[in-house]
Amino acid sequence: MVKVVLGAFYGDEGKGKIIDYLSQDSDYAVRFSGGNNAGHTIEVDDKKFAFHLIPSGILNKDCKAIIGNGVVINPKVLIEEIENLKKNGYDCSNLYISDKAHVIFPYHEIFDKLQEELRNERKIGTTGRGIGPAYEDKYQRNGIRMEDLLSDNFYTYLNDNVVVKNKILEGLGSNVKINTDEIFEEYEKYAKYLKQYVCNTTSMLHKALKNNENILCEGAQATLLDIDFGTYPYVTSSSPTIGGVSTGTGIGSRYIDEVYGVIKAYSSRVGEGPYVTELTDEVGDKIRELGHEYGTTTKRPRRVGWLDLVSLNYAVMLNGITGIAMNHLDTIGKLDKIKLCTSYEKDGKREEYFDTNPEFLKKCKPIYEEFDGDFGDISKCKTFEELPLNAKKYVNRIEEVTDTPVEFIGTGPGRDDIIKRNKKLTLSMK
Ligand code: IMP
Repeated sequence: MVKVVLGAFYGDEGKGKIIDYLSQDSDYAVRFSGGNNAGHTIEVDDKKFAFHLIPSGILNKDCKAIIGNGVVINPKVLIEEIENLKKNGYDCSNLYISDKAHVIFPYHEIFDKLQEELRNERKIGTTGRGIGPAYEDKYQRNGIRMEDLLSDNFYTYLNDNVVVKNKILEGLGSNVKINTDEIFEEYEKYAKYLKQYVCNTTSMLHKALKNNENILCEGAQATLLDIDFGTYPYVTSSSPTIGGVSTGTGIGSRYIDEVYGVIKAYSSRVGEGPYVTELTDEVGDKIRELGHEYGTTTKRPRRVGWLDLVSLNYAVMLNGITGIAMNHLDTIGKLDKIKLCTSYEKDGKREEYFDTNPEFLKKCKPIYEEFDGDFGDISKCKTFEELPLNAKKYVNRIEEVTDTPVEFIGTGPGRDDIIKRNKKLTLSMK
């Protein structure tokens, strides 16, 4: 059985919580795209774990945690994560790193920041972690993979890259000079440390599929940040949508059984780009404070807004979402009135289809339906039936508009504050 958890909006939907729940009976937890631009925190027994690269399924010792070939790896960050886990009693013997995953080098971060400075109109607001430039090298076919980092030719591969990077920096009038020997010395140590974890993870997953084992694919970033299907150019450089699962792990699409699209009961976005339901008033400030909407990776305050079902419908179609996982129902329930965007108005007409073109989205105004809030404390509710009527009405309307069941509902910050419903996609819903 292969399950996939994906962000349905602009990231930070709280995928970690659903992943944490589902990985309890997973044999494998796999990251398939992105790098340490992602981040989620999981609290177990009063200990907080911030994950940037390692699938959080590692906390289940019976689960094999795989960093797939589609991920770009900053080895320094990865080693810090391993060390932190070890300090807290997780020996990481269940960690596997794809030999085909690409490596992030210091020059990728330099270029990430430089390119952002050089952008005029279309600044992206990247995390500055070198993600884009690492993927650029991958697709230029200059990239260095984990297997190259471990090979005897590593110095040559690295130096070939450094020579070119220095020429580009010089051409851009930068004073920065990259030194091959310095990087080599640092990365040789990383290679020694990580060697034991590196292997052919695709063949491992193929064996797992043959043995009918449970595989959970953990998405990072989200649908509207996808390089193809997101609000380009305000996107990340990878494919966090369903196609990325196959290209980033080697799992053929026909093996995928369930796809969970994670949302919040409101919405948020970090970085630049269009955002139709954004709230820039005091209601937005209130949601930001109530939901603690500050980046895990960069600590930036997040932009926040109402839930947008036009974009959610797009995410459902694009990813073949079979179930919605909704977090922060408790947070939105602290407001007395809640708005839900069910369509847009564009050029005086109703628009129900989401187009990622930023110019198109700039012209769209949200059309809202209003709901009563004041849900009270819902963290004790363990079933949908126990939820207050106002909360049920809100969830029911989301299902109606998206034609997709809301299978998980987050009712509080704790690990166990979650309602799991046995509501599957029916044929009428397809
Ligand atoms: P990059 O991935 O660092 O290149 O950043 C590109 C865009 O994606 C920026 O707007 C980032 O804020 C956004 N982004 C990247 N990773 C995440 C994430 O994990 N959550 C939310 N936004 C992200």
